[in-house]
Amino acid sequence: MLTQAGYVAASVCFMLGLKALTKPETARRGIRLAAVGMLLAVLGTLIVAEIVEYQWILGGLLVGAAIGYPLGTRVPMTAMPQRIAIALTFGASAATMVGVAEYLHRSGAAAGAMPRAQAAALGFEVLLGCITITGSLVAFGKLHEILPGRPLTFGGQNLVNAAAMLGALALLGILVADPAAAWAFWAMAALALVIGASFVLPIGGADMPVVVSLLNSYAGLAACATGFAIGNTVLIIAGALDGASGFILSIIMSKAMNRSFANVLFGAFGGGAAAGGAKSAAGLTVKSLTAEDAAIQLGYAGKVIVVPGYGMAVAQAQHVVRELAELIEKKGGEVKYAIHPVAGRMPGHMNVLLAEANVPYDRMYEMEEINDEFSTADVALVIGANDVVNPAARSDPASPIYGMPILDADRAKSVIVMKRGMSAGFAGIENELFYADNTRMLFGDAKQTLTKLVTEVKSI
Ligand code: TAP
Repeated sequence: MLTQAGYVAASVCFMLGLKALTKPETARRGIRLAAVGMLLAVLGTLIVAEIVEYQWILGGLLVGAAIGYPLGTRVPMTAMPQRIAIALTFGASAATMVGVAEYLHRSGAAAGAMPRAQAAALGFEVLLGCITITGSLVAFGKLHEILPGRPLTFGGQNLVNAAAMLGALALLGILVADPAAAWAFWAMAALALVIGASFVLPIGGADMPVVVSLLNSYAGLAACATGFAIGNTVLIIAGALDGASGFILSIIMSKAMNRSFANVLFGAFGGGAAAGGAKSAAGLTVKSLTAEDAAIQLGYAGKVIVVPGYGMAVAQAQHVVRELAELIEKKGGEVKYAIHPVAGRMPGHMNVLLAEANVPYDRMYEMEEINDEFSTADVALVIGANDVVNPAARSDPASPIYGMPILDADRAKSVIVMKRGMSAGFAGIENELFYADNTRMLFGDAKQTLTKLVTEVKSI
């Protein structure tokens, strides 16, 4: 009774937590609520009458806390995608181990007597769990640059993967028809481990956030199936929430990049090799300016729109950005932040960084809210952003990012672009904004340059 009450309370916390995560103002509360939910779920499970001894559970809790605490507190924000990938490996391993333990528990004649629905739930859980274990390990390796980030492809790979998946589903079918067929159970698990790796290896490192989010939904579905297999309601609810939200997030990310879901998964895109736009920068020259000149423009500007991108995250420049914005405001200017949905390398990347630097939420604007305002801005200050301000997305049908919605920074009276050199962004293509008449490049590491700008603006 108490256990069920704990599960209901935990499920409510998970749902409210997810809802709160949809807005930057309430996101922290959402995470806390979800953590409380998880604590209630664990406590509810610990008082289950079937548990006869606690030493292994206690050991597990201590090991989990010893791994989880540093993962949560020490890993930098730029490494968050790989942190999530490794956490998925743990989650999927837990779901798989429950499935394997349950199957072993009922092996032999007892397995034969297992209801078909339960065999299906167990098999599904182990299938998805194993795919997620190796898939997220490979994603972690690519994101952490232990494995090559480029797509590792071979001829007919999509066909081979499809055949392997069909084979695994056939083995699942055999298991459901005859739950005592242990060979099918183990063969399916082994094949699923191979599928996980072979599915992620051909995808480029930069597409990993979409893949991680999709694997997240697999892990959620595996947990949901575990709930059905062992009759645990909180696992069914939490797994379903996780599965659905991960899947929706993958679709949102693909849409914001104007890529089809299939193109991300099977297109071997984003490997770092230049994807090649239709326009080349040959013959065009960029105009740069000094920090002193940029400071004068910013110090006297009536309206500045800051466009943060992946480079701001790499340089960890968010705190200096806020400092500079406050200085501009003190001098009478208005500062707004324009947030592109896929700026950086994970959903909400820019919101999280700016919130961490205490940038007020009401200064952060979604792309649709702010795009019309660029034409009234004196300066668009582009900090380590590239693809999300590339006008080729609007004007060049041959560009790989054509059709991707962008921030219209080029429409500001003056554009200052801060980056270290002329390297391409994630899509590997030229950006004509850098060569536009109203653009000036301010070269250097974003944090160092912004620190210089702060000193200069102060002295005006
Ligand atoms: P990018 O197009 O990736 O460009 C980032 C720029 O930052 C680079 O051109 C780089 O140029 C510069 N940079 C790197 N380190 C820097 C530093 N320390 N200081 C200053 N500049 C630095 O970034 P974006 O505009 O944010 O676009 C994001 C891209 O990622 C999009 O193409 C998007 O589709 C893709 N993507 C996003 C997500 C999510 S969910 N956010 C997921 C998958 C893919 P230099 O090397 O010359 O400095």
